[in-house]
Amino acid sequence: MSTRARILSTIASQVILLTFLSSFVTGETQDFVRTLDRNLYGFKKEKLTHFRVYWHDIYSAPNPTAMPIVRPPSNTSATFFGSISMIDDPLTEKPELSSRLIGRAQGFYGSASQQEVGLLMAMNFVFVEGKYNGSTISILGRNRVFSKVREMPVIGGSGLFRFSRGYAQASTHSVDLKSGDAVVEYNVYVLHY
Ligand SMILES: *[C@@H]1O[C@H](CO)[C@@H](O)[C@H](O)[C@H]1NC(C)=O
Ligand SMILES: *[C@@H]1O[C@H](CO)[C@@H](O)[C@H](O)[C@H]1NC(C)=O
Repeated sequence: MSTRARILSTIASQVILLTFLSSFVTGETQDFVRTLDRNLYGFKKEKLTHFRVYWHDIYSAPNPTAMPIVRPPSNTSATFFGSISMIDDPLTEKPELSSRLIGRAQGFYGSASQQEVGLLMAMNFVFVEGKYNGSTISILGRNRVFSKVREMPVIGGSGLFRFSRGYAQASTHSVDLKSGDAVVEYNVYVLHY
């Protein structure tokens, strides 16, 4: 080893020793955070899952699943701007409400546009079927209800849908303009582990 290399290596080891000692002096130990091996936690390979469900928004008696919680603040807004509904809507396998229950859409939506009927949707799809029972995905997005296909981001999930991201495409299957009852087809595409 040359003199130069020896000096450099001495300096380097002193820096390491100083860093080590100063962590005791300043008490800066970082034991609240650590890096994990993702494989040990089962997050090995990301997969893409598609599912299709029918979302039932029911205002009519006797068993409404959607409730207006904020009435439109102005009776002159054609878009009901400012109104909000809370929902606990069944998600079924087929358009018929009597078909197999896959889960529920729980959350709320509000009229967020003054120019057209555009909703802010904030809801969790809570699955009850098979291996997905108890898992959820969260959807937050804009819903222009009178356009044919509306796309909304899937921003996360829990259970089997941990680390989810993706999108949902909603298209109206049927609507009763008098009661406000609607059946909407949701095609959801999620990347998860
Ligand atoms: C709209 O609201 C105004 C003020 O609150 C009220 O005076 C009026 O009667 C309402 N019109 C209708 C059609 O409800
Ligand atoms: C889903 O889980 C709940 C509670 O964890 C349980 O009561 C229910 O029977 C399960 N449903 C199915 C279809 O496995």
